[in-house]
Amino acid sequence: CIDIAKLPKETGCFTYDPGFTATASCKSAITYIDGDEGVLLYRGYPIEQLAEKSSFLEVAYLLMNGELPTTEQFASFEHEVTHHTMMHEAFKSFIGGFRHDAHPMAMLVGMLGSMASFYHNDLNLDDPEQRRLAAIRLIAKVPTIAAACHRHSIGWPIRYPRNNLEYTTRFLHMMKEVPSEPLELNPVAAKAMDLLFILHADHEQNASTSTVRLVGSTGANPYVCVASGVAALWGPAHGGANEAVLKMLAEIGRPENVKSAVDKAKDKNSGFRLMGFGHRVYKNYDPRAALVRKMTHEVLGALGVNDPLLDVAMKLEEAALQDEYFVQRKLYPNVDFYSGIIYKALGIPVEMFTVMFAIARTAGWVSHWLEQQNDPENKIGRPRQIYTGATTRDYVGIDQR
Ligand code: ACO
Repeated sequence: CIDIAKLPKETGCFTYDPGFTATASCKSAITYIDGDEGVLLYRGYPIEQLAEKSSFLEVAYLLMNGELPTTEQFASFEHEVTHHTMMHEAFKSFIGGFRHDAHPMAMLVGMLGSMASFYHNDLNLDDPEQRRLAAIRLIAKVPTIAAACHRHSIGWPIRYPRNNLEYTTRFLHMMKEVPSEPLELNPVAAKAMDLLFILHADHEQNASTSTVRLVGSTGANPYVCVASGVAALWGPAHGGANEAVLKMLAEIGRPENVKSAVDKAKDKNSGFRLMGFGHRVYKNYDPRAALVRKMTHEVLGALGVNDPLLDVAMKLEEAALQDEYFVQRKLYPNVDFYSGIIYKALGIPVEMFTVMFAIARTAGWVSHWLEQQNDPENKIGRPRQIYTGATTRDYVGIDQR
C-alpha cells in the first residue's frame, strides 16, 4: 500500500485506476470488508451478530458513534430520531409538483436536495453539534419523505409520521394504504424489514458513499451530499440492482428458462448481465446475501406466500454457481439478489425497492460524512486524468471550417 500523498512531489508519481479498483480515497474506521473471505464488520462487529441481535436504529447509532449505545444513550437517540420525523409543510407543494409517474428515486433526489434550502441559514459546519443534528434529521426524515413520494405516485394523501411506532413500522404505516396493516405486522415480516435495513446500512467506500464523501469534501451542505448519494445509488450497477433483479426474475418467468438466461449473461454481445450477481469487493459469497436468502424462506413461510420467483431465483443461483464462467470470475449472488423477493412479499412496490435501500444507507452516508468532516486529513476530492484529446491547435473561424 503506497501513500502517494507522502511521496516527494519530484517523483511525479501518478496512478491511473479507472473505477478505483485499487485506490483508497480515505481512511475510515466504520466498516471493514474482507472480500476474499466474505467478512463484513460494522465498527468491528460481525454483520451476522448484528443481524441476529441488534436493530436498525441501534446499528445506525453504532455506525455514527463508533460504539454500541447504553440503554440511556439508545433511548435518547431514538427520542431524537423520532422527534425529527416531521417534514416542513412546504415540502407538500414540492412533492405535489412531481408528475404522478415520476420514479420515487427521482423524487427522493429532488426532495433531499430541496432540504438544503430549508436547513442552511444557521448551519455552521464547524460546529460538531450542528453536524450531528443534520445527521439525525436525515435519518429521521428520509423515511417520511420516501413514503410521501410513494403516496404521491399512487395519488394518495400524505400520511404524517406516527411517533408512537418504531422506525421501520412507522415507515410502513406512512407508506401503506391500509392503516391498520403495519400495526399488526407479522413479527417475522417486521424482523425481515429490520434485517434488510441493517444489511444495507453501510458498505464502506461504495459508489454512493464515495459520492457523498466527494461532495462533502467541498464543504457542501450535508443534505445535498446525501441527495448526491441517492442519485449514485439509483444506477442498476449499484442499488438499482434490487429493482432490476425482480424485473429480470419476472422476465425469466420459470425455472425451465434459467439455462438460457445464464447462457445469455455469458454472451458479452447480449448486453445482459445476471442482476444481483457479482461484486467489486466480494470474490466469495456476499455474507449479506446468505442472510437475506435464509430470511426469504422464513418470510415467505410465515406469510404463507408462494412466490414462483423464489424458485426461479434459487434455480438461477444453482445454475450460475455450477457454471465455469461464473466460477472462474468468482461471481456470487450479492445482497440484492434475494432482497426484492422479501420486499415483494411485504407488499412493497418494485419502484420503491431502491428507495428502501436509500433509507437504510442514509445511516452509512451520514456516518461517513461525519467522519470526513472530523478528519484533519480531509482535502477536496479532485481526481486527475490521463488526457487523450488533441494537442495544441489554432482556432479556425466558422466560415473556414
Ligand atoms: N453477469 C455476467 N457477467 C458478469 C456479471 C454479471 N452480473 N458481473 C460481472 N461479470 C463479468 C464481467 O463481464 C467481467 O468479465 P470479463 O472478465 O470476461 O470481462 C468480469 O465478470 C468482471 O466484471 P467487472 O464488470 O469488471 O466487475 P466490476 O467489479 O467492475 O463490477 C458489478 C461489479 C458492477 C457489481 C458487476 O458485477 C455487475 O454489473 N453486477 C450486476 C449488477 C449488480 O448486481 N449490482 C449490485 C452490486 S451490489 C450493490 O451495489 C448493492
